[in-house]
Amino acid sequence: MESSAVGNMKIEWAMSHMKILNKIEEKFAKTMPFKGKKIAMALHVEAKTAYLAIVLKKGGAEVSLTGCNPLSSDDSVISALKENYGINVYGKKGESEQEYWEYFHKILEVNPDYLIDDGADLISLVHKEYPSLIPNLHGANEETTTGIVRLKAMYNKKELKIPVIDVNDAYMKHLFDNRYGTGQSTFDGIFTATNLSISGSTVVVAGYGWCGRGIALRAKGLGAKVIVTEIDPMKAVEAHMEGYTVMKMSQAIKYADFVITSTGCTDVVSKKDLLNAKDGVILSNAGHFNKEISLPDLNELAISKKTVRPFVEEYTLKNNKKIYLLGEGRLINLVAGQGHPVEIMDLSFSLQALSAEYMINKNYKPNVYSVPKAIDEKVAKLALKTRNIKIDHLTKKQKIYLNTWNEGT
Ligand code: NAI
Repeated sequence: MESSAVGNMKIEWAMSHMKILNKIEEKFAKTMPFKGKKIAMALHVEAKTAYLAIVLKKGGAEVSLTGCNPLSSDDSVISALKENYGINVYGKKGESEQEYWEYFHKILEVNPDYLIDDGADLISLVHKEYPSLIPNLHGANEETTTGIVRLKAMYNKKELKIPVIDVNDAYMKHLFDNRYGTGQSTFDGIFTATNLSISGSTVVVAGYGWCGRGIALRAKGLGAKVIVTEIDPMKAVEAHMEGYTVMKMSQAIKYADFVITSTGCTDVVSKKDLLNAKDGVILSNAGHFNKEISLPDLNELAISKKTVRPFVEEYTLKNNKKIYLLGEGRLINLVAGQGHPVEIMDLSFSLQALSAEYMINKNYKPNVYSVPKAIDEKVAKLALKTRNIKIDHLTKKQKIYLNTWNEGT
């Protein structure tokens, strides 16, 4: 395990660049919105998340934390949080599936008042195995698209028993975290894993949602030829108009040097695609679960498999074709990279902190709720203030004009 001294440095670096969260920390230290409350969190345990946990603790909460992916935890940060910040943290990089779930059980031992989740594994575990905890819960926050899809499915089946804030839906979240955050950090992960060049290569991006837009944009900026695959006709037209080639995965993979999936779907790269793939293709995923590239299909087609670099598995197929899989098909930006840039997570985690403060004092019915616009705007204003950017404000005359209908030419 890496030392807590290294973890401390990473946390302090993040703290010094998360200027919005600095302001929220100052406020929470005075107002103590979580005094006497216990918050259980399942997020990627790395330096930025550590700072969110510290800010919530400053606001009076007892915080228990574990990872939301078996490969995304930073061991040095875990040591630092345990030794220096009094956070009950569980997890390690490369934990087994059994350990992953054991740590979830551990963070629930405190009988939490509030949950902060990324992917909805924590919320669904509470519903399946800990219904006795539900009456004590004020609610939960959910961080990502895949988690929201699962929670809305629970709600539609009348199985959701707590109110949840959809942090992902906030303008200041998906527009920056999913798009620019995933755009940058996916390549951080791919470069670290492979040490190869994107420039001049063909990159296939599966899914042109918020993450896919960012990944395609950065791939283009790095000099790649970009092909997009989609199932949504409107997104496909958008990608086409943006200048990307759009085609089916079974065709696109014939040209691909790199494939990056970020759809939140399953079997996006499956047997027929793998059979069509160019020799030496590098497959990676930025979506929440490791289901986008079909590992059962890859294993079925392969006659041998070996690790050729950290986070790079080489699969040899019967026809001797080689296929490389990065990070076991788990989100590559957190497995091999350092996750999203610090300033991006400053936006997302400010929304998390303010949403928890908002929800813990309310008594909502079970449902999935948007982040209040006032919180979204507050984070935007703080983002401008901490960057020393000033913007115009409507004059009285302009306000009247914008509320008038009969002043045409
Ligand atoms: P989104 O809903 O905005 O976009 C997903 C896109 O994929 C949609 O346009 C959809 O039409 C398309 N799609 C769905 N199934 C497809 C298929 N079989 N083939 C091709 N396209 C398909 O979602 P968003 O926000 O872009 O998130 C995508 C995934 O990334 C989710 O699992 C989300 O939780 C995850 N995520 C990962 C992050 C990271 O740090 N790696 C950060 C934020 C989100």
